[in-house]
Amino acid sequence: MYCTKNIASDLVWVGANDRRLAMFEGVYSVPAGVSYNSYLLTDEKTVLFDTVDKAVGRIFFENLEHGLGGRTLDYLIVHHMEPDHSATLSELLLRHPETTVVCNDKTAVMIAQFFGSGAVERMQLVKEDDTLSTGTHELTFYMAPMIHWPEVMMTYDKTAHTLFSADAFGVFGALNGAIFADEVDFDRDYLKEARRYYSNIVGKYGMQVQNLFRKIADLDIRMLCPLHGFVWRRDIGYFFKKYNLWSTYTPEEKGVMIAYASIYGNTENAAEILSSKLRERGVRTVMYDVSVTPASDIIAECFRWSHLVFASSTYNGGVFVTMDELLRDIAAHNLQKRTVAFMENGTWAPVSARQMTAIFAPLKNMTVLEQSISIRSSLTEGQLAEIEALADVLAEDIR
Ligand code: FEO
Repeated sequence: MYCTKNIASDLVWVGANDRRLAMFEGVYSVPAGVSYNSYLLTDEKTVLFDTVDKAVGRIFFENLEHGLGGRTLDYLIVHHMEPDHSATLSELLLRHPETTVVCNDKTAVMIAQFFGSGAVERMQLVKEDDTLSTGTHELTFYMAPMIHWPEVMMTYDKTAHTLFSADAFGVFGALNGAIFADEVDFDRDYLKEARRYYSNIVGKYGMQVQNLFRKIADLDIRMLCPLHGFVWRRDIGYFFKKYNLWSTYTPEEKGVMIAYASIYGNTENAAEILSSKLRERGVRTVMYDVSVTPASDIIAECFRWSHLVFASSTYNGGVFVTMDELLRDIAAHNLQKRTVAFMENGTWAPVSARQMTAIFAPLKNMTVLEQSISIRSSLTEGQLAEIEALADVLAEDIR
C-alpha cells in the first residue's frame, strides 16, 4: 500500500524509510533508520527528482504509481548517482520507457558505469544555469561538485521557490510519519544526527559547501528538499547557519571533548582527572571511550566543540588501534580550526603523543598545545600538577 506525503498541491514525496539498515554506506550506524527521499512534481509535465535505494524499491514504486495516478513519467532528474539514490534507476526506466533522464555529463558517465551504456534511451544533458520548463514550473540547474560526489547538481524551482538540494541538508533518521522539519523538535531530537550526517558524509568538503552558498545566495529559497531527512519550509536560516559553521570548520560550542583509548583503565583515569579539573574551572566537557563509541559520533563531536584532547595508550610501538583509526578518520575529514592536546601512556616506551601529533600535522589552522602529558603505566601524584597546568591552559584559552 502506498505511503506518500503531500508537500504542495503538485509536489508529493514518494520516498521511503529504512529501519533495517545496520550501517549506512557500510560504515555509519543508523539506529534510528534513514529516509531515501524522492519527489514527484505533477505539472503539465511530470517530473521525478531522483530514485531510491534498492532496499526500499517496492514501496517506492507503489508510491510513484500512486503519485502519477495513471499519468506517464516525462522526466527523471538525477541529482546524485550514489546508489542510495540511483540503484532503482534502471528498474524505473524499464517500468517507464517513456521517461527522459535529465542529468549532467558527469552523471551520464556514471549511469553507464553502473548500468551499462544502453541503460538510458532518452537523455537530456544539462549544465550550469540551464532551465527546464514543465508547464507552470521553471527549473534551473546548479552544479554542486563534491557535495559530496563530483557529479552532484541541484535544481531550483523558481515557481515554487524550492531547492532540491541532493545530499546537502540531509539528516540520518527515518521520518516516522513526518515530512516537514517543523513537525518535529529538530533541535532537540535531530540536530545531533544532522551534525553526524554532515560531518561524516560532507565534512571533508567545506570549501565546496561554501561555494554552493555563494552560488545560491541570491535565490529566494522558501523550501528545501534534500535526499535524506526532512523538508524545510520554515526556519531554513537556522539550518543554513549550522551548515555555515560546519563548512567553515567553526566550532559551535566552547568546551573540551576528551576522547581516550585505554586498555586497562589507567589512561581513562588520567582523562577523567583532566575532565574533573576542567569542570572545576567552569569548562564544559564531554568524554568518549574510542573503543566503545563509534568513530562517526566522535567525528561529529569534533565538529561541535572548540577544544579537543586525545589520550591514548601506546600499542605495538604506535597509537592504540581504535585511536589510530579515529585520528586518521578525523584527518580524512579535513577538520580545521581546533585547539588540541594529546596525552600518552606506555609502560616501557610511550610514543603515542608524538605519533598522534604526526597524524594531525597536515590539518590546517590547528593549534597543538605544548602541554602534552606522558604517563608511565599510571598517573603519579607528582603528575597532578601537569594535569592542573593543562586544565589551566585549556580553560584560559576557552575564556
Ligand atoms: Fe545519500 Fe551521497 O548519497
